[in-house]
Amino acid sequence: MKAILYNSENPNEPLYIGQTEKPIPSENEILVKVKATALNRADLLQRAGKYPPPKGASKILGLEIAGEVVEIGKSVTNHKIGDEVFGLIGGGGYAQYATIDAQMAISKPKYFSFEEAAAISEVFLTAFQTIFWTFELGAWGENTGTRSDGLGNRNENAENENTEKQKSILIHAGASGVGSAAIQICKVLGMKVFVTASKSKHDFCQNLGADVVIDYQNENFAQVILEQTDKKGVNYIIDFIGQNYWKQNIDCISVDGKLAILAAMSGAKLEKASLSKILIKRIQITGSTLRSRSLDYQRKLTKKFVEFAFPFFSQEDNIKPIIDSVFDWSLAEHAHKYMEENKNKGKIILSVSE
Ligand SMILES: NC(=O)c1ccc[n+]([C@@H]2O[C@H](COP(=O)([O-])OP(=O)(O)OC[C@H]3O[C@@H](n4cnc5c(N)ncnc54)[C@H](OP(=O)(O)O)[C@@H]3O)[C@@H](O)[C@H]2O)c1
Repeated sequence: MKAILYNSENPNEPLYIGQTEKPIPSENEILVKVKATALNRADLLQRAGKYPPPKGASKILGLEIAGEVVEIGKSVTNHKIGDEVFGLIGGGGYAQYATIDAQMAISKPKYFSFEEAAAISEVFLTAFQTIFWTFELGAWGENTGTRSDGLGNRNENAENENTEKQKSILIHAGASGVGSAAIQICKVLGMKVFVTASKSKHDFCQNLGADVVIDYQNENFAQVILEQTDKKGVNYIIDFIGQNYWKQNIDCISVDGKLAILAAMSGAKLEKASLSKILIKRIQITGSTLRSRSLDYQRKLTKKFVEFAFPFFSQEDNIKPIIDSVFDWSLAEHAHKYMEENKNKGKIILSVSE
């Protein structure tokens, strides 16, 4: 089959379409003829030799796919040949064919194109996991029940009802793939959403529902948030930036606040960091990478996400996949450059042609 390949000895050489082995599905997997895949920052890191694929995963780039089932493993019962599916994979998306665990493969609704379906898995699963499982907001926790009122609010007793509506969150890189998914989910919960983004992306974030958009290149975001919250700070922060944002994050998070660190795009080292505010404010700090999670965890996450999201996806103008641009896969090198230059608002898609 054809796949997008690169020279791992010299990753600066352009990506190219070359020939490689077609994967064979194991008994719990399906083989998908890929129609569309999407870019993730992890692809750039993997290409640069800084993020090796997990054991057993394809070495080909690409963490998510949408396409048509062409072969099924002998134990697979939930999909059949001809089904249209999408989902998260450990690697191998930039190819004509890719295997996916059958329980990770989500049936594609007709109202989504393959490009839209390819824009969902990585960013929405990450946002969903952080908001509902890490922060334990709404009724979609790892070990809690299912939706009760359509908004994800716990309404088993009056005290808990709508509590998320009084809570605030700061989502960094608001126009990023994960950021744009997180804004939409938090607005469904009725939360007050602060985001940081470069100036040219402010309208985009506001259109998604962000209440306050901060130009992090020209403003001190901690100062803005403290001013806007009567010095209380935000209850939750989703951070992908790390080093450059550490001090401001700790300054503008509230007492008992929760900070989820999902990446460190500005650097991963902290110098002269003080622990005092973490103690005084009882801040909870967590880190996570979705790719390193066990298959069982990812299957459960996928199942709960589908239960939560599909009723919203089916209503227009509610929660939706956000596509910045679609590149034919022969232009993958341009697509990588475009992401490296921070130009995208939402997802960059590769359309996989014959
Ligand atoms: N831990 C996990 O499980 C997990 C899962 C998925 C993704 N991630 C990570 O989450 C991050 C976001 O992913 P994505 O695919 O949504 O990214 P994306 O769509 O490529 O967006 C990233 C945006 O971050 C902003 N940015 C980049 N460098 C920055 C810096 N030094 N300071 C401030 N802002 C910066 C830029 O927007 P502006 O123009 O606004 O600056 C850029 O467009 C990536 O680092 C990715 O690897 C982690």
